[in-house]
Amino acid sequence: MAALRVLLPRARGLVLPRLGCAARRPFASGAHFEYIITEKKGKDSNVGLIQLNRPKALNALCDGLLMELNQALENFEKDPAVKAIVLTGGEKAFAAGADIKEMQNRTFQNCYTGQFLSNWDKVCQVKKPIIAAVNGFALGGGCELAMMCDIIYAGEKAQFAQPEILLGTIPGMGGTQRLTRAVGKSLAMEMVLTGDRISAQEAKEAGLVSKVFPVEKLVEEAIHCAEKIARNSKFITAVAKESVNAAFEMTLAEGNKLEKKLFYLTFATEDRREGMTAFVEKRKANFKDQ
Ligand code: CAA
Repeated sequence: MAALRVLLPRARGLVLPRLGCAARRPFASGAHFEYIITEKKGKDSNVGLIQLNRPKALNALCDGLLMELNQALENFEKDPAVKAIVLTGGEKAFAAGADIKEMQNRTFQNCYTGQFLSNWDKVCQVKKPIIAAVNGFALGGGCELAMMCDIIYAGEKAQFAQPEILLGTIPGMGGTQRLTRAVGKSLAMEMVLTGDRISAQEAKEAGLVSKVFPVEKLVEEAIHCAEKIARNSKFITAVAKESVNAAFEMTLAEGNKLEKKLFYLTFATEDRREGMTAFVEKRKANFKDQ
């Protein structure tokens, strides 16, 4: 039936029974989504905004939502007009985690053979910078999704947690790894072993979040940051992102070696020449992404 739904769009007037959260219709670039909203924002429309929009389930990350999120990321990645991306949810929840109702009856065998959760990694593969703007709950997979982004801004009422232990499981999308790197062993261990939530302010003090804003200002501020990033060279921004991310994968010596190579690489670009020439000529740089 799932295959049938992919082959037969709703527009043909066929009434097919609901299939839980699994994606129910095909979506090509620019198509209408069911679980997310996408828009271009900013003065120059160069910021791709993705809003998770499954409020009845507090943006629980079901398969259909993740498929749409991946599609939207791919669309913005390919769109030359988009230079940075903001990922947000609603005021009550950024995302309350993986969809527990979808997971409830899974077995080890179908997790293993179906490579459960393997489609979550797209966020990490995107070369354009992604800012997570977190209002409300960022729990379990929601917290993990935010941590896959490059920058996290939080609204004052945001709450972060890895509560999987309370469900008899553990984080499965990098929670034990990224949280530990972000906040250190003691707080990460406490959060993972108790399931306790931390506030936006605590998350900021611990280094998980870079800035905290009033709830209603959050998305605007994230777009503002994305616009600031968008003014720089797209190519050099991608190189800088790769270099920072390497810090999570490499030893200090290996990371410094890679950084030096990437630094040298910038000297092969027009944008590096333009940036330094503009400084010397006391004018604003005009980057061409070359
Ligand atoms: N999966 C599926 N449905 C969820 C959900 C989730 N993670 N979180 C919330 N919902 C649903 C609820 O079932 C409820 O639906 P119904 O109205 O149909 O019953 C609706 O969203 C509203 O939720 P609540 O009534 O519970 O709202 P609340 O304000 O009382 O509580 C909450 C909010 C504290 C976030 C609570 O919903 C909650 O604890 N959610 C689960 C959080 C969680 O454990 N997340 C981790 C999931 S496991 C994971 O993410 C694994 C991984 O690492 C990948």
